[in-house]
Amino acid sequence: MATLALNAVNKYFRQQHAVKDVSFEVKEGELISLLGPSGCGKTTTLRMIAGFVEVSSGTVELAGRDVTYDPPYRRNTGMVFQNYALFPHMSVSQNIAFGLRMRKAPKAEIPGRVQRALNLIQMAGYEQRLPRELSGGQQQRVALARALAIEPAVLLLDEPLSNLDAKLREDMRLEIRQIQQQVGITSIFVTHDQEEALTLSDRIIVMNEGAIMESGDPLEIYSRPASAFAATFIGHTNLVEGTVQAHEGRHWVVKSASGLVLRCAQRDGLAAGDRAMVLWRQERMRLQVHESPPEPDANSVAAEVVLVTFLGPTIEYICRASGHELRVRRPNEGSLPRLQPGHSVRLVVDPADCILIKY
Ligand SMILES: Nc1ncnc2c1ncn2[C@@H]1O[C@H](COP(=O)(O)OP(=O)(O)O)[C@@H](O)[C@H]1O
Ligand SMILES: [Mg+2]
Repeated sequence: MATLALNAVNKYFRQQHAVKDVSFEVKEGELISLLGPSGCGKTTTLRMIAGFVEVSSGTVELAGRDVTYDPPYRRNTGMVFQNYALFPHMSVSQNIAFGLRMRKAPKAEIPGRVQRALNLIQMAGYEQRLPRELSGGQQQRVALARALAIEPAVLLLDEPLSNLDAKLREDMRLEIRQIQQQVGITSIFVTHDQEEALTLSDRIIVMNEGAIMESGDPLEIYSRPASAFAATFIGHTNLVEGTVQAHEGRHWVVKSASGLVLRCAQRDGLAAGDRAMVLWRQERMRLQVHESPPEPDANSVAAEVVLVTFLGPTIEYICRASGHELRVRRPNEGSLPRLQPGHSVRLVVDPADCILIKY
């Protein structure tokens, strides 16, 4: 049974259609991410689940019960916010106990539940500290403990890591994932950060302009995106628009207006003459400097290096080929000579790595 289900949920703020016909289910123990750019309706969706924002139409079901018109305190959701939202004048213990008292947990149980929550976030010993005496990461862990202490049916996290610096953000996302799996709590994680969504989630729901574009597990969304939006929002992608020419064996041949020809893995629902986009990941393309033996099945195009950017573990090359700017990311492992703008190279990509999207 799904722990949470949204059915055709819409939200209008006056004329603005902020959330459009959103439906999805979350299974027990699953962590799903709502991923999309700022303003696409993620927070509004989360707040409709928590009951802070009323739906314009549609229904919300929690643990098999229709809660669409229930007030927040009757929904049994726990929420963690970007800005932590701890009570500044309360100690760590008091902050965690607060939610339990509001929900009328038996008084005798409260100290034990506070302690268990503190152990979970590995902050036993910090009971008496005030929020201002903690680092940002510690404050966010206390906020997480406060949300978990009430043992909600669903944990809702709204960009909880966005106020932390890059290194801490990486550590914290692993910690959140570990705690989530340890407790086995059904969770929705809202983020605009694709890397966060890819590392944390069982499943990602990609949103744009209030609507769901697609959903899938991280590997699927990354490797075989079904929409140009997801392909370009997640990861680093090359995109060439063209016309489907014909199919050759197992491949479609697509030609761009400026004459770049690419072979792509066979895909259903296409016909010669269709307009299509060909997309492929930057790290899937190879870059050859010297004449190499031809790879008969691969796409291979002559190109000129325009810009080389050193990114630490990888190097990005921007190249021009038949009027298109193509980007290649290669590991920084010393197998390529130092290339300069103006160098001639060959770019090679397998048809199996080229995703065709009709438009
Ligand atoms: N209380 C509100 N009143 C009016 N408009 C709102 C309100 N909350 C959000 N919006 C609008 O709804 C859209 C979606 O916002 P939001 O859900 O916060 O997006 P996200 O969390 O993805 O950045 C935005 O255009 C925002 O300006
Ligand atoms: Mg938001």
